[in-house]
Amino acid sequence: MEVRVAIATRRSIRKYREEPVSRQMIEQLLDALFAAPSAMDARPWQFVIIEDRGSLRALGREMAHCEMLSEAPLGVLICAEPVRERAPGFWPQDCAAAAENFLLAAHALGLGAVWIGLYPLEERVGVVRRVLRIPDPIVPFSLMAVGHPAERLPPENRFDPAKLHHNQWGQPWPTAVRKENP
Ligand SMILES: Cc1cc2nc3c(=O)[nH]c(=O)nc-3n(C[C@H](O)[C@H](O)[C@H](O)COP(=O)(O)O)c2cc1C
Repeated sequence: MEVRVAIATRRSIRKYREEPVSRQMIEQLLDALFAAPSAMDARPWQFVIIEDRGSLRALGREMAHCEMLSEAPLGVLICAEPVRERAPGFWPQDCAAAAENFLLAAHALGLGAVWIGLYPLEERVGVVRRVLRIPDPIVPFSLMAVGHPAERLPPENRFDPAKLHHNQWGQPWPTAVRKENP
């Protein structure tokens, strides 16, 4: 799948088939995580691959509005290790770059995934720490629920000329007529 198409057609998928995600696919998802850019190339991250259905069900049960985790065959936790930062304060951006890489790679493989925000929600961070035994210096950042999709969502055109400025704030960008779908 072309990157342009993957970006335009990716949606958050919260319903999955039973079928497990193969090791080969998981390896490709991990490649996408590690390929992300990070400030000063510090890579201040750690990842937890969760195939244990008991842990996924516990996470889905204990965090409000995260029921999709109970049905997902795979979860991938993106954590920060702030002590590894070279540019102080940038770790949330580094982890977010890994997270978006992951979502696009999953979509390109025909998988469905959703980003479940953890940091800075203390309650969710606490649940993940407890269930997955994450030590104190590591910060759970986001949790990806992944599986073979059991729902399809259409692409959305979110292009918004009101949020574009040309050269200076407030000067409109001369928007061309846009196609609805990629
Ligand atoms: C930082 C962040 C946190 C999110 N947290 C959740 C979440 O806790 N639960 C959930 O169902 N979706 C979550 N999402 C997914 C968004 O709801 C979704 O991306 C948004 O509604 C746009 O839909 P789309 O991903 O299908 O394009 C999160 C997305 C981001 C970027």
